[in-house]
Amino acid sequence: MCGIVGYVGPRDAYPIIITGLKRQEYRGYDSTGVALINDTGLHVFKKKGKVAELEQSLLGKPVNGNIGIGHTRWATHGEPSDVNAHPHQSNNGKLAMIHNGIIENYAQLKSELTKKGYSFKSETDTEVLLNFIEDIQKNTQSPLEEAVRIALKRVSGAYVILLLDQDNPDTIIAARKGSPLVIGIGKGEHFLGSDATPMLEYTKEVVYVNDYEIAIIKAGELILKNLGNERQMPYISSLDLELAAIEKGGFDHFMLKEIYEQPSTIYDCLRGRLDAEKGTITMKGIQDNIEALINAPRYIIIACGTSWHAALEAEYIIEELCRIPVEVEYASEFRYRNPIVNKGDVIIAISQSGETADTLVAIEKAKEQGAFIFGIVNVVGSSISRASHAGAYTHAGPEIGVASTKAFTAQLTVLMMIALKIAKEKGTIEQSRYIELLVELENIPEKVDAILKNGDLLKPIAQKYKDAINALYLGRGYNFPIALEGALKLKEISYIHAEGYPAAEMKHGPIALVDTNLPVVFVATKDEYHAKIVSNIQEIKARKGKVIAIITEGDDIIPAMADDVFFVPPANEVVAPLLSVIPLQLLSYYIGVLKGCDVDKPRNLAKSVTVE
Ligand code: AGP
Ligand code: GLU
Repeated sequence: MCGIVGYVGPRDAYPIIITGLKRQEYRGYDSTGVALINDTGLHVFKKKGKVAELEQSLLGKPVNGNIGIGHTRWATHGEPSDVNAHPHQSNNGKLAMIHNGIIENYAQLKSELTKKGYSFKSETDTEVLLNFIEDIQKNTQSPLEEAVRIALKRVSGAYVILLLDQDNPDTIIAARKGSPLVIGIGKGEHFLGSDATPMLEYTKEVVYVNDYEIAIIKAGELILKNLGNERQMPYISSLDLELAAIEKGGFDHFMLKEIYEQPSTIYDCLRGRLDAEKGTITMKGIQDNIEALINAPRYIIIACGTSWHAALEAEYIIEELCRIPVEVEYASEFRYRNPIVNKGDVIIAISQSGETADTLVAIEKAKEQGAFIFGIVNVVGSSISRASHAGAYTHAGPEIGVASTKAFTAQLTVLMMIALKIAKEKGTIEQSRYIELLVELENIPEKVDAILKNGDLLKPIAQKYKDAINALYLGRGYNFPIALEGALKLKEISYIHAEGYPAAEMKHGPIALVDTNLPVVFVATKDEYHAKIVSNIQEIKARKGKVIAIITEGDDIIPAMADDVFFVPPANEVVAPLLSVIPLQLLSYYIGVLKGCDVDKPRNLAKSVTVE
């Protein structure tokens, strides 16, 4: 849930760290800090606020040096403040540490250390772990690396830690369990990050550190060990991320850039997999496990937030096409109740970041009960992707905006391909319908492009409803999960309360909310429910509600009754959600901008929720 950066080598560390922190602010941004070692010793600079504010405050400060670490925080223990910001310093002042994660047994450790005379400046769990390491080093007279190993065997929770020791000014010690850590391999230099963005312009060779590994990093040497002190062979991967991919590319916000990237990201998702002409879908993760997938008695799809909406959409599609029962679970609920997971059940985990703690723990729990785990993840090499038995990457590229947009449509695209492939293998779909849907899916990128060309038409609608206090989003069938997603987008980007609901469910209570001030967004593209949703719109109009309808080009019924409409191209109802969600993304974006909200970094949120 935070961004970490480290550097050791011949270059000045500070500029690399500050730039790397800015690129990772989407991971958490309530406070930030850096620690550097130079000829005048160990220096720690930190404060509440964003990286740019820290940078401004450090003008003229001794930030020279060739080794350093940096952190941008999303608080879990202790409010966002200067003193709770990372890096933390040990009692003896010799160690500086940054941490991503939660030390669950920190309270017990803190009371033990307090009794030994340790004092704490902050409320964080991180400072407790750091002083625990100092205490072990003092009592055992062991090297820092050994003290870290001993300490980490005694802590529970999740961590990535980077440590500087002023007595060993050429070394960074790092360790991870449950939170992400990438090490970039340069020539006589090493880079560290929660993701690869801090190192992109310097190296494409990276090592994804595994759980329970400790890294001892010098300018020209990387040693990896496990907690049993056994050397581990670093597995070096090559990055295919480009620096341009993380810049705004001329858009005002990352969110808008990523909304407009969707024609190409959906295309990238399909590329090399779907061939409508040949009638094939090539997905190694599916093919290699096809027996388990077509014979599964049940699929359980586990996710959070927007990814959970993709999961719900998948339930409709997989049950319709594959005739396999599907259950959709909030990861945070699944992991704590005593779920029934039978042998042969297939668990599908959906996650953009691949680091969501609730989802990661939920699938570990299901794995213990013998389930086969299939991961649908965007971030390559992330924890959930590596905890899965098989999977499919969504290839949406780095999604910097906290609100998920392109990753969501990429998830839907992968899920649609999976459903089609399994239905074909299972024989539950007619060949003609199979080919029709392949063609439909293949044509989606250009239809999304056509929608985006009319994107400005949402601006006057946003202007009209930007002062709403509440909103309702309604849909039926395949459009119901899209209504939920549209509501979440508005909530998290503009802070307007919005609720998604099955359209037909309104009459069971929520219609009491309808009055002249309530905008009601209908996801009402042409499908078998169209006549029904027309009735639902009339029910709202009869109570003076304001109706905004997302409808299919050629619909000449709904425009006569809605206050505002936005047309999307015609498409088969199974793939139409890829189109109807686009105007909802833009509507929330434009309302958020008109309200002056920080649409890329909404208040209270972070891009990757790696704590529970
Ligand atoms: C989506 O707009 C939100 N930022 C959030 O709900 C997100 O979808 C959720 O935290 C799950 O994240 P993941 O897909 O990375 O697991
Ligand atoms: N638990 C630590 C804290 O509250 C780290 C949080 C984070 O991952 O940013 O400071």
